[in-house]
Amino acid sequence: MLYVPFGKLGFNVSRLGFGTMRLPTVQSDEGAVVIDRQQAIAMIRHAIDQGVNYVDTAYGYHNGESEIVTGLALKNGYRERAKLATKLPQWLVREHKDMDRLLDEQLKKLDVPYLDFYLLHALNRDAFERLKNLDYQSFLKRCIKDGRVRHVGFSFHDDAVTFRDILDNYAWEMAQIQFNYLDDRAQATLDGLLYAGEKGIPVVVMEPLRGGALANPPKEIAERISQNRFGASPAELAFRYVSHFSQVVTILSGMSSPEQVEDNLRIFEDVPVGGLSAEDLQFVSSVKAAYLDRTAIGCTACNYCQPCPQGVNIPGIFDLYNRSYRFGDNAILKNEYKQFCASKQDASSCVSCGVCEEACPQQLPIISTLKEIEKMAGCRP
Ligand SMILES: NC(=O)c1ccc[n+]([C@@H]2O[C@H](COP(=O)([O-])OP(=O)(O)OC[C@H]3O[C@@H](n4cnc5c(N)ncnc54)[C@H](OP(=O)(O)O)[C@@H]3O)[C@@H](O)[C@H]2O)c1
Ligand code: SF4
Ligand code: SF4
Repeated sequence: MLYVPFGKLGFNVSRLGFGTMRLPTVQSDEGAVVIDRQQAIAMIRHAIDQGVNYVDTAYGYHNGESEIVTGLALKNGYRERAKLATKLPQWLVREHKDMDRLLDEQLKKLDVPYLDFYLLHALNRDAFERLKNLDYQSFLKRCIKDGRVRHVGFSFHDDAVTFRDILDNYAWEMAQIQFNYLDDRAQATLDGLLYAGEKGIPVVVMEPLRGGALANPPKEIAERISQNRFGASPAELAFRYVSHFSQVVTILSGMSSPEQVEDNLRIFEDVPVGGLSAEDLQFVSSVKAAYLDRTAIGCTACNYCQPCPQGVNIPGIFDLYNRSYRFGDNAILKNEYKQFCASKQDASSCVSCGVCEEACPQQLPIISTLKEIEKMAGCRP
């Protein structure tokens, strides 16, 4: 495992961090999808045994179960071996005291006396203005002073201008951004990453594989990737790109199976900072260009838009739409869309309320795209 200093905080962090948003799941006796606790705990502990020392969770992941399972995984001495980060669900904050209440609830769920990192979750312009008005700064200072939190930061989904404004507004000790070779001009952007570096604010990266999509490229892109000089798999190439940047301290991967944990532990033995030459960066740009030609809608399956009040399975439908588009085969869309109709998760019940578009970190035109898909594949009379 490779390690780098976590800025000036006085410890070294593993380049691979464990994101607990995509843990393995099973169906409960009541038919609900829940975390496969035994497997998830074994995966997190194995990663820590092999050198991972940063674990990221949040209030909302897995319908609130992620914090509980992460807390269980960190028992038996694992808590002392890894830095623990979780996030304030800022969308639930209506008044100042909500921040303290939510933090206390999270410490209880995790069953820990303190957090190493507490992040304001998924900041965008509106959320940030609201938290400013609610005096988030005095809350952050208070939870550091009373020992509930060691370090504070924020995670981010908006544009580069907003990212700079937030960075300049407080003495942040870290920032968490979505960054991968498809998104170097989206959200915080590469320029935002470099700006954080100039200010000495360490950056934690999320969605390095764009939620897994970069690990499963369509055939012609996979063929192009296979020509890289490292002999790297698609996932490895994506990790190599993010690891190249010295402003990034740790790279979170939401690993969903023991095989992915094993693969990523192997990859992170050898993905050095500054490891890409100008030719390598050019190669990655060419892969990006090929991707951009073949993605109908840039959904990362983050599930922030779920549940839709009308039951529309937005990420599932977009995944199908992208797969069909990549292979240039509308029959895939038409055939598989029937399953969404059968389970009443298709787009015909969308009432254009806009709740999903407000929640979408990628700012996708969800409603119009759903309408287009309905036109192409709708199965209701
Ligand atoms: N704060 C925020 O707003 C926010 C938003 C998003 C994420 N996050 C955090 O950041 C973490 C990382 O983001 P992410 O989960 O989107 O990371 P990611 O690495 O981009 O995507 C994870 C997915 O990639 C696939 N994968 C991982 N390793 C692989 C491998 N070696 N080979 C093939 N496929 C592999 C798996 O997908 P399949 O199982 O489908 O193959 C896995 O579920 C999250 O878990 C969460 O903790 C925070
Ligand atoms: S706009 Fe449509 S898809 Fe989006 S939340 Fe509302 S009903 Fe659901
Ligand atoms: S549509 Fe947006 S919010 Fe919904 S899963 Fe996709 S990226 Fe996430």
